[in-house]
Amino acid sequence: MTSPAHSARPAHSARPARSVQPPQPLALYGPDFAADPHSHYRQLRAHGPLAPVRIAPGIDALLVTDYQAAVDLLRDTHTFTKDPRAWQATVPADSPVLPMLGHRPTALFSDGDVHARYRDTINDSLALIEPHILRAEVARVARQLIRDFAATGSGDLVAQYARRLPLHVFTTWFGVPPEDSERIVDGIGGMFNSAEDSAAAYADLVSVVTELVAERRARPRRDLTSYFLGHPAGLDNDETVRQITLVMSAGHDPTTNLIGNALLHMLTDERYAGSLHGGAMTAHEAINEVLWQDPPLANFAAHYPRHDTEFHGVRLRAGQLLLVSFAGANTQSPPAPSDPGVRSGGSAHLSWSAGPHRCPAKQPALLIAMTAIEQLTSQLCDAELAVPASELMWRPGPFHRALVHLPVRFTPLDVTGDTALSAPSEVSISR
Ligand code: HEM
Repeated sequence: MTSPAHSARPAHSARPARSVQPPQPLALYGPDFAADPHSHYRQLRAHGPLAPVRIAPGIDALLVTDYQAAVDLLRDTHTFTKDPRAWQATVPADSPVLPMLGHRPTALFSDGDVHARYRDTINDSLALIEPHILRAEVARVARQLIRDFAATGSGDLVAQYARRLPLHVFTTWFGVPPEDSERIVDGIGGMFNSAEDSAAAYADLVSVVTELVAERRARPRRDLTSYFLGHPAGLDNDETVRQITLVMSAGHDPTTNLIGNALLHMLTDERYAGSLHGGAMTAHEAINEVLWQDPPLANFAAHYPRHDTEFHGVRLRAGQLLLVSFAGANTQSPPAPSDPGVRSGGSAHLSWSAGPHRCPAKQPALLIAMTAIEQLTSQLCDAELAVPASELMWRPGPFHRALVHLPVRFTPLDVTGDTALSAPSEVSISR
């Protein structure tokens, strides 16, 4: 059933339907795509608002690169469902994209009242996060991480910083034992890469969270895992495990990549003078520009037509996979038509998505990324790239925009007088 709050009338163009069939769907995986995604989006736009892509061997989709078509799709709950099961029945069970796209009982794969029930638990849990405590905790851990490599004069800002900081936030929020944190980050990373080992990575992530949920059911504590278990929505064990896994995976990789991509932007854009503190622009501006140009979730928002239909002049089959290119729609040229619903509050890009499944964690994600970058720019002022930007590697996979490494060098800091920072005295939630 579709709840009224989630309803939206289709607002599609009345152009005559046409089939968009270039000779080959364009591959959105592998090194060519990772090296230059924007040239792929340009080619796809030449085919119209939706164009065929291949997201893994043998797995095709239609990718929406047109801004207005993306907004229409994201809001049209009458024509499109988020439930992938009809499509999934046509896909090999071992496909590497299923950890990202395969059905689970979560907010991401449900519509209407079912979605509202799951999303309420997520929204209510995120509402417990105290911004001032989160900011202080992120700053404290940032200083600790920087201290770990500052004396060497070099470091990898992805592996040693951007990936570790959100991991700390999520393990603290949910009360993950320190010895399990590597499994969390490996599980999420493997899932997003959408490569051969993705199913095993996702299975291990679920198993860590399952152990955590069982432990908290027996011994509740002051953390978000215990909060999910006690939420009035009364999620069962599997629903609780899946919602927590969703929040961790939807949150960790994109936040890591928002920090990494914004740092790269500051290190390479001439307005930032090639160093972290050399230019006049702020972390806020770097983050905003990355959200326009290279959003962490580049292509996602899987939707499926509920019935055969026509959308922005293209004939669609019931159950076929449509993805939204947030990166492609954001960078559409000429500029997209004005849309007050999306453009209010000054955020015209689609990088947090739109409609009922828009990201519920925009504020904490921005706070984490901003604090992370401010700490780095204030401490490693003269950090510069240690390799030419053209040699940087991007992780494979159709869904994300994610650096493998971000090697930098800087004037070594004297950390001999510093003592290791203590364990957190409080988690960033109010309960
Ligand atoms: C604290 C960090 C974050 C958390 C906890 C989080 C959590 C979530 C969750 C639970 C959803 C699913 C919502 C639903 O289906 O109703 C979601 C969706 C989404 N998030 Fe976030 N997120 C975080 C950071 C980010 C970042 C940094 C970005 C990128 C800028 C991002 C972009 C998105 C997008 C585009 C969607 C929609 C996905 C879709 O429609 O399929 N999120 N997020």
